[in-house]
Amino acid sequence: MRERWSSKTIFIFAAIGSAVGLGNIWRFPYMTYKYGGGAFIIPFLIAMVLLGIPLLILEFAIGQKFQKGPVGAFKKIDSRLRGIGAGAVISGFIICVYYAVVMAWTLIYFVKSFSLKLPWAANAENYFFSNVLNLSDSISSIGGINWVVLISLLGIWIAIYFCVRNGVQSIGKALKLFIPLPLILLVVLFFRGITLPGALTGIFYYIKPDFTVLFSSELWIAAASQVFFTLSLGFGVMTAYASYNDPKQDITKSSIITGIADGAISLFAGFVVFSIIGYMAQATSSTVAEVATSGPGLAFVVFPQALSLMPFAAVFSVLFFLTLFSLGIDSAFSLVEAVVTVIEDKTKKIKKETIALVVCAVMFCLGTIFATDAGLYFLDIFDHFITNFGLILVGIFECIAVGWIYGAENIRSFVNSVSDWKIGKWWNVSINYLIPIILGTLLIVQFVNELSGNYGGYPSWSIYLGWTVVLVPFVTGLVMVFNNKN
Ligand code: PFF
Repeated sequence: MRERWSSKTIFIFAAIGSAVGLGNIWRFPYMTYKYGGGAFIIPFLIAMVLLGIPLLILEFAIGQKFQKGPVGAFKKIDSRLRGIGAGAVISGFIICVYYAVVMAWTLIYFVKSFSLKLPWAANAENYFFSNVLNLSDSISSIGGINWVVLISLLGIWIAIYFCVRNGVQSIGKALKLFIPLPLILLVVLFFRGITLPGALTGIFYYIKPDFTVLFSSELWIAAASQVFFTLSLGFGVMTAYASYNDPKQDITKSSIITGIADGAISLFAGFVVFSIIGYMAQATSSTVAEVATSGPGLAFVVFPQALSLMPFAAVFSVLFFLTLFSLGIDSAFSLVEAVVTVIEDKTKKIKKETIALVVCAVMFCLGTIFATDAGLYFLDIFDHFITNFGLILVGIFECIAVGWIYGAENIRSFVNSVSDWKIGKWWNVSINYLIPIILGTLLIVQFVNELSGNYGGYPSWSIYLGWTVVLVPFVTGLVMVFNNKN
């Protein structure tokens, strides 16, 4: 008998936990700001309804219907198609290796926040790049192992292992802490943020609509990729999670709740982030535009600096990094669980605990590369290639497999047979045409961008490494498709 979530609510918690992560607190606010403020929210919501939720329904439906993780589920459609699941899980595996490293930085900041004077108060940028990362001049000088990051990474992996070790049972317990905790913390930070001087200027920048950009294709593409990233689509996570559902469980409602919760938390996080950025701009006499950056710069430079300027700096710093940690950990362990599920589906005899231990240990060892002095550069390249190409490729293949080979209508009638809210024929159109066309366009645009020069000015060998990161899951999937041995 397959394991089961302890309740329907815990399954929805798990899906929300995976969806809501670091992507909501730095990627979404920044994208909104970059692509026309309030105007970005329109394509984001449209993409959520037309692309995100339909694909979420698809991923939930195949996991729940076939009672298997991503590889097994696609195999039930056609044994060749298991290659799609494999490609998804390998991509997720790679993401998880570096996502845990970002979590490790969070842990370092969290620990260092327990001090009367925050150690980065004098120069947050220098602190992050020199003290925490000991960053080398270029990706070609790898330097040595950064032991503090490595030990912190070990701590993260131990935490992840304890969350996933007994499968959905231990995950369920962890979620009872890691769902409410970051939400409460976000609310606390929200009230702190909006009561700071300059907060309104920041918020104004965040939501001020610039409707002229609505006609740019770049905006729509950015909104579509944000929806895919934030809903954890394309890595087999949602399929693995849904495979532990009762086959008769409602699918439509779970998908809509997950989508709405994730979107709402993103919007809310934007207020927190931009009120603090507004404060920071005022405190340092700069503009919001100068302060707002994406990625590690925002979470590990701008924020620490802003926090250090506040009264009771240490308290809010502890709260902020605890928020990041608790937001990220359930996204990280969802990726591990997808890998563990696939291995468990294949090798019935090995205990789940052992599989989880081996997967965590391997991911920790591979993560060492990101704990070197050139770690940040490697992380940047891996992230760029796998999120811009891996995720999109899997999305396209999922739609072709389910829409065209299995038949979108077959999945739609299954979903409607178990759900209170019925989905209309528009869902078939979305899976068969809309999503593949949009993702295909995204892929071409990204590819052309890539040809215009080495990403980030990195040397060619590292760009080839980036392509290898995309090609490993892709080629493995293809080999499985064409080499149809069971
Ligand atoms: N959805 C997560 C976030 O927004 O941070 C990131 C993520 C987690 C993506 C798990 C993909 C995934 F499978």
